[in-house]
Amino acid sequence: MTLLRVLLPLIFLVSFAGLSAAQDTSGDASVLQPGQQSLEDIMARQRGEDVPFGAELPLPLEGNPPPAESHLGPLGSASDADLWREIRADALPDARASNRGPAAKVLMQDGGMWWLNFRHGPLLTYGSLLLGVTVVLMAIFYLIRGRIRIEHGRAGITIERFKFIERFGHWLIASSFILLAITGLLSLAGRKLLIPLFGHEAFSTFAIASKWIHNNVSWAFMLGLVMVFVMWIVHNLPDRTDINWILKGGGIFGKGHPPAKKFNAGQKLIFWAVIILGTSISVSGISLLFPFELTMFEPTLALLNDMGVPQLLGLGTIDATLTPQEEMQYAQLWHAVISFVLMAVIIAHIYIGTLGMEGAFEAMGSGDVDLEWAREHHSIWADEVVAKQGKPASGTQPAE
Ligand code: HEM
Repeated sequence: MTLLRVLLPLIFLVSFAGLSAAQDTSGDASVLQPGQQSLEDIMARQRGEDVPFGAELPLPLEGNPPPAESHLGPLGSASDADLWREIRADALPDARASNRGPAAKVLMQDGGMWWLNFRHGPLLTYGSLLLGVTVVLMAIFYLIRGRIRIEHGRAGITIERFKFIERFGHWLIASSFILLAITGLLSLAGRKLLIPLFGHEAFSTFAIASKWIHNNVSWAFMLGLVMVFVMWIVHNLPDRTDINWILKGGGIFGKGHPPAKKFNAGQKLIFWAVIILGTSISVSGISLLFPFELTMFEPTLALLNDMGVPQLLGLGTIDATLTPQEEMQYAQLWHAVISFVLMAVIIAHIYIGTLGMEGAFEAMGSGDVDLEWAREHHSIWADEVVAKQGKPASGTQPAE
């Protein structure tokens, strides 16, 4: 017992001395630790002087500590602002996060606010403007030109223009694109447009349903895209007839239409717009469906730098190092911008396929078109079909 009475205070004293010694190495207010900075540097930065961040932090030399009065103590020198500045600059290479996702270690990234503002502001404003202007242009065109009629009247004889599988592919891509456009616009503008109308709760149900439709119908769009590409690519390769067709403005104004094969130059433009923009929308869409899995913009920017494109445009070398979040933000913006452009193209396409041209819709409806329509719009193709199949017997007059 007496022994214990002597030993316990001794143990306490020894451990206390050990603790103080440990604190001494870091607790001396005059010694800067790596990663800390001097008061002068902080003050200099506040005066607006250009003190490189982190560069002014030499390791204190042993036995030669900086003068005590010129520095904050170790506990006071690292202000919260400095810590957050380092985090913002992603300058904590040894930081560890319990969440192991690719974006887990990026706690702050400056692009986030810019992206959010751009998404809710210019993207929505100019995107809707583009769609609105396209609709107005179609209306003006209709007022000026009216419906493009079958000039010499119907022959009353039909020839097959699209097989069932072609129409299936077309309506698959068409119906899915329309659904995707509506649900995509709801995701983008719903908060602004629908919450004031229906309230948060109803909008939430709407938004969840909209997202589900958008994510799942995208596969139908991609399948339709592949079908249309495979079935129609041979008819959409550019050739000499296109130059003549373009030079004559497709015969939109004036009498008669220039000769064309199965698809004229205007339709070929629609086809390639659908294929190129549709593929771009699909790839960026897949990267949004599987976040942080596809890196597209970093390698593209690096490639553009290597090719000297930004330098040619006077932009200098662009920073091609993106955080995982920035990669996703660019994917979202790209997806939306290209979708707006394709929506505008498709508005024009729907106009010409329905209201704008007599006899066109039947091609995708029943699959058969009036022979006179075929001769006026696709004379080379019509002659080929007649030569192959013989002139069809007078058939039923297709409905308007
Ligand atoms: C209600 C919507 C739509 C209607 C009424 C419509 C109508 C038509 C018609 C009538 C044709 C055949 C033209 C001809 O015989 O020469 C056609 C072709 C075509 N459609 Fe559509 N379409 C619609 C939506 C879409 C959508 C959403 C896409 C793609 C995203 C699309 C892509 C195409 C393509 C690539 C062609 C072949 C090239 C061309 O004729 O321009 N269509 N469409």
